[in-house]
Amino acid sequence: MKPAPKTFHVKSFGCQMNVYDGERMAELMAAQGMIATAAGEADLVVLNTCHIRERATEKVYSDIGRLRKDARKVGRDPMIAVAGCVAQAEGAEIVARAKVDVVVGPQAYHNLPGLVAQAAAGQAALDTDMPLASKFGRLPARRRVGPSAFLTVQEGCDKFCTYCVVPYTRGAEISRPFAAIVDEARALVDAGAREITLLGQNVNAWTDGAEEHNRRGLHDLIRDLDRIPGLSRIRYTTSHPNDMTQGLIDAHGDVESLMPFLHLPVQSGSTRILKAMNRSHGRDDYLRLLDRVRAVRPDIALSGDFIVGFPRETSDDFADTLSLVDAVGYAQAFSFKYSPRPGTPAADMDDEVPEAVMDERLQALQAALGRDQQAFNRASVGRTCTVLIERPGKLPGQMLGKSPWLQSVHVMGDHTIGDLVEVELTAAGPVSLSGRVRRLLAA
Ligand code: 5AD
Ligand code: SF4
Repeated sequence: MKPAPKTFHVKSFGCQMNVYDGERMAELMAAQGMIATAAGEADLVVLNTCHIRERATEKVYSDIGRLRKDARKVGRDPMIAVAGCVAQAEGAEIVARAKVDVVVGPQAYHNLPGLVAQAAAGQAALDTDMPLASKFGRLPARRRVGPSAFLTVQEGCDKFCTYCVVPYTRGAEISRPFAAIVDEARALVDAGAREITLLGQNVNAWTDGAEEHNRRGLHDLIRDLDRIPGLSRIRYTTSHPNDMTQGLIDAHGDVESLMPFLHLPVQSGSTRILKAMNRSHGRDDYLRLLDRVRAVRPDIALSGDFIVGFPRETSDDFADTLSLVDAVGYAQAFSFKYSPRPGTPAADMDDEVPEAVMDERLQALQAALGRDQQAFNRASVGRTCTVLIERPGKLPGQMLGKSPWLQSVHVMGDHTIGDLVEVELTAAGPVSLSGRVRRLLAA
C-alpha cells in the first residue's frame, strides 16, 4: 500500500490527442489539490501511452522499469498509473507484467482520481470501460494554456485500416457536441490561446449527428469558431481522405483564420497496397483530391503519413510511393516501418517484407521527404507572413514561433509568448526558418 499522492507528473507519448488527454488529466489532478512536479520527485507518475507501433508499446515497459530503478536509488517508491492506448489494449496484463498501481483507458480517465484513491487503499484499480456518456462533461474547466492549444472534437475510428489498432483502442467514431466544443474553445481563448488545433483520429469525420439533410460538418464548426474574438488561427488534424468534403475544401478558400496546412495521410502510393490496407481510396483519388484543395488554396502546405514494408509491398509498389511523394511535394511528413499489431488483420498476412528491405525503403523515403521539406522551406524565403510566438529560442534574445504553414520560425527581439507578429522570412534551414519581425499584429 502507498500513501495517497500529493504530487504528480504526467508523461505523454504518441499523438497529439495523447498530449491533450495528458493536459486534461493534469488539470483533473490539480483540481483535486495535487501539485504538478518533475517525474523524479512525484508521488504519482502517469504514463500516458501509445500502442500504435510495437516499439512504442515496448517503450512503456522499459520506461516503467527505469522509473522504478531511478526512484529506488533515492529511496522512493512512486505510485505508477498507466493511461492511454497501451492501458486500453493490455489492461490487466500490464498489472501482471509490470506491477503498476493504476490502469486507465483513454475513455475512462475522468475516473483517475477515484482510481488513485482506490490504489492508495490497497485495492486493484483498473478501468478500461468505454462508457456511452462522454468523459468530457466530467473534466474541470480549462484555466491556463499556451498560445497554441489542442481541443479534441472527435475520437475513435470506424475505418479499420488493416494495420491499425486505433479502432480497437480508441473505439468507434464519436463526435463531441457542437456547443460543448464552442464553449471549450472560448474557455481556451480566455485562458490564453490564440491558436486552436482541433483534434480527432478522423477529425474531418466530425458531425453533429443530425439527420443527413441538415447535418453539420467540420467546416460548419470551423466557421463558427472563426467568429470567436481573439482566436486568430484554427488548425485541424488528423484527416482521412474520404472525409474531405467539398464544404471543408471550400473553407480553406475563404476562412481567413483557417491555416493553409493540411495533414492528410496516404500511407502508400500504390493502389494495390492501399487496397490491402483497406484504405478505401486509390492513389489517383488522393492526388485528385489534393488538386481540388490546391485549386482553392494554392499555397497550402501538405503533410502526410507513410508506412513502408506493408506485407507484400514490392519494389514497384514502393516506387509508386516515391513517385507520389514527387508528385505532391510535401512540406513535411511522417514515415514509419510497418509494425505488425496483435489483433489486426494485417498481422496475419503472409509475405512479410524483410527488415533490411524495410530499412532501405524507409531511408530512401525519408531522404525524398527531407529534400522536399527543405525545398518548401527555401521557397518560403522572401515571403511575409504571420508568426505566433510560442517559446524562447536557444540563443539569447531569440524567440520561436510557427508560420501559417506550420514551419518553426526563429526571430530576434523583444517579443512575448503569445504575440502574433508579421515576419519577413529571410533564411531557411532543413527544418526551420529565420525571419525579421516587421510589426506586432496582436499582443
Ligand atoms: N505500423 C506502422 N505504422 C503505423 N501507423 C499506424 N499503424 C501502424 C503500424 N501498424 C502509422 C500510420 C498512421 C500513423 C499515426 O501511424 O502512418 O497514419
Ligand atoms: Fe488507423 Fe486507418 Fe483509422 Fe487512421 S483511418 S486511425 S490509420 S484505422
